[in-house]
Amino acid sequence: MDIKSFIGNTPLVELKTFNVPSGVRLFAKVEFMNPGGSIKDRIVTYIIDDAEDQGLLKPGSTIVENTSGNTGAAIAMTAAIRGYHAILTMPDKVSKEKQDALRAMGAEVVVCPTSALPDSADHYVTRARRIHAEMPGSFMINQYDNQLNAEAHFNSTGPEIWNDLGESISAFVASGSTGGTISGTSRYLKMQKPSVHSVLADPVGSIYHRYFHDGVVDPSQIAPYFVEGAGEDHLAKCMDFSVVDDVIRFTDSDAFATCQHLAKREGLVCGGTSGANVWGAVQVARSMTGPATIVTVLPDSGNKYISKIYNPEWLMQNGFNAGELRSLELAL
Ligand SMILES: Cc1ncc(COP(=O)(O)O)c(C=O)c1O
Repeated sequence: MDIKSFIGNTPLVELKTFNVPSGVRLFAKVEFMNPGGSIKDRIVTYIIDDAEDQGLLKPGSTIVENTSGNTGAAIAMTAAIRGYHAILTMPDKVSKEKQDALRAMGAEVVVCPTSALPDSADHYVTRARRIHAEMPGSFMINQYDNQLNAEAHFNSTGPEIWNDLGESISAFVASGSTGGTISGTSRYLKMQKPSVHSVLADPVGSIYHRYFHDGVVDPSQIAPYFVEGAGEDHLAKCMDFSVVDDVIRFTDSDAFATCQHLAKREGLVCGGTSGANVWGAVQVARSMTGPATIVTVLPDSGNKYISKIYNPEWLMQNGFNAGELRSLELAL
């Protein structure tokens, strides 16, 4: 069987160790069980299939993309199977494990400074666009602005969650970078049940929170943070706030403390955005009175961040206080 047939239909697990009001149930879709190791397998196959159907990709073509690593892994995997060349740009904060995995699958990796501002030629998105523009015949996934990204979730993540939980769903919570996951999944769930409450968890340092609440992109909100794959310093066209009901903010410590809890209490070694998503789901759960079902996704595995999130030395060197992390963890 082709690897593609193993993408999606991921397990949905109930999280039972978090302190939430009685009658409130938490579920998480284990997206790191996708063959490329993340939720991004869904959008990459969807977009590449479409490009092939339209004749935009031929054997030997080059696929270019800016990525925080997971879209890159899905592209590198698909390129390896289908005979394409992949050039992937990413900010230098992306973990070495993720960079090396792409190289292992034969992709060319272009590392850009995380500090480069969106309008700078060194910004990883600008860099990918330039490489694409200078290489006739290359194809760009364009995950930030490509509506097929959200459509992939509308056609897979949303229906799968609905099939598993149906009418019981009260809320869907996810962090967002391109916005594909939250937009496509929320749109589908709200079409089935308009009262489904959709909540974006946004890191401190991202522009989405202020944009959602005040309608402005405020450059003064842009600040570095460590969680990889959530929040943005620019507005992605794929992010559709018309299907989002609230945006809440999390810190790196909230996300990483939740990762520790997921690993130690649920046996789920997850990436930082999984921690953020579950932290957000717990906050939403605590605002509920009476029976409710909150669902979220675990976008990637903690195995990609063993040298960071699960490394006490790295945490200490980067200013995380072990005592504070532990008390946040215990409060979950
Ligand atoms: C680890 C991780 N989690 C979550 C996301 C966010 O998903 P989306 O781009 O669909 O908003 C990404 C996207 O880059 C990611 O890499």
